[in-house]
Amino acid sequence: MKIPRIVMLFIAMAVLSSSFAHAAGDADKGKALFNDPKFAGALNGKSCNSCHPDGRGLESAGGKTEFRIMGKTLKSLEEAVNLCIESAIKGKALDPSSEQMKDIVAYIKSLQFQK
Ligand code: HEC
Repeated sequence: MKIPRIVMLFIAMAVLSSSFAHAAGDADKGKALFNDPKFAGALNGKSCNSCHPDGRGLESAGGKTEFRIMGKTLKSLEEAVNLCIESAIKGKALDPSSEQMKDIVAYIKSLQFQK
């Protein structure tokens, strides 16, 4: 069977765009994690949203290269997220290259473009 070239092109584009979305993280999934009191094995019933309602206060975090949180200096957004996971929600730090970290980072970065 001969598959029309236009169909092949369509399939190639769909595969490519979904793998790019994958690499960049999914902001909608990240938002769900942000609101989940069980995110990263959190033990104190808090979600990120408890202290950062609707991401408020994090609008510039996506563009920063240095963070000062609770007396500590962090060199990446992933480290900042992990500090809040460990100290603020009593969870377990995530692998910086994990899917969940990419999703939460994508959500935090999306906050810059709101409002
Ligand atoms: C108990 C309250 C609390 C919870 C829960 C919490 N944070 Fe934070 N977070 C803070 C405080 C306090 C700071 C430092 C002050 C600030 O920048 O708002 C901060 C700072 C940050 C920053 C750096 C902001 C910046 O621009 O410097 C990020 C990113 C962040 N939190 C992400 C998260 C994520 C993701 C979660 C959920 C895993 C979370 N936080 C849960 C209190 C909390």
